Amino acid sequence: MVERRSSVDRFLKKFSDTLGFGVNDLVSYAPTGHKVIGIVVDLDPKIRKIYVDWGGCGNIHQHDPEELQITMLQEKSVKNKMADVKIKKITASMVGDVSTTDFIDPVTADLLNKQFAAELSNSAFYRCCASWFGNNGYPGFEKYFLRQGDGEAEHAMKIYTFLSEASVRVAFPVINDQQIATDLKTIIKQTLVKETETTKNWQIISKSAETGNNVAVIELCQWFMKEQMEEESSITTLYQKTMNIPLSGGLETIDMLLRENDPIIK
Ligand SMILES: [Fe+2]
Ligand SMILES: [Fe+2]
Repeated sequence: MVERRSSVDRFLKKFSDTLGFGVNDLVSYAPTGHKVIGIVVDLDPKIRKIYVDWGGCGNIHQHDPEELQITMLQEKSVKNKMADVKIKKITASMVGDVSTTDFIDPVTADLLNKQFAAELSNSAFYRCCASWFGNNGYPGFEKYFLRQGDGEAEHAMKIYTFLSEASVRVAFPVINDQQIATDLKTIIKQTLVKETETTKNWQIISKSAETGNNVAVIELCQWFMKEQMEEESSITTLYQKTMNIPLSGGLETIDMLLRENDPIIK
């Protein structure tokens, strides 16, 4: 054991001092050319492993550094491909020598990540609309839209917590700027359209989760689908009420009601 430990130490020193390899460096296995590549990982400060994808097909094995003749990987296209998908993902699910369960397949994880950003974007949308209502004499509509904005931020955090517990790193994809209309009825209609789009997103995520047999994600989708039913119902009622009102006095009444809660819904 002592002998093995000193052997590891010798190789660690060789990697770090002589060859300059460090944690997360991608390396290739010299004798078989460039296609067999691995990543350098420290399981704890003293245990270094190389995770190698032997066939280049996601079949990962871990090795002690001294078992392999490693060179720094030079081929950029292979490096990029590998860095994206396989080895980093596999090593992220390793705890010591144990590979933890993959609760979310990569496609569903990506969809959920995009939905995280979409919910945040919806939150910003509601708040921007709230500001328009506030500036145009509708304090009740402003409050209603601010409440909805808070709800969307909570949705985003629900997805964040889910992804985080499943060991998926949350990223923020860029979302295009969204134009907000400048009259009450169009804003309400825009909001209804946005909610129906959100429901479609959740249907797509749900389908993907079923395909990947991601049971935990399916449960999450069920919660969101129920939430979408409530939200579509709420904004649909508001849309119908505002469309059917010919006089501004009717809007004043709705505005009054919206200050406290969503009483016009039921
Ligand atoms: Fe939402
Ligand atoms: Fe919503």
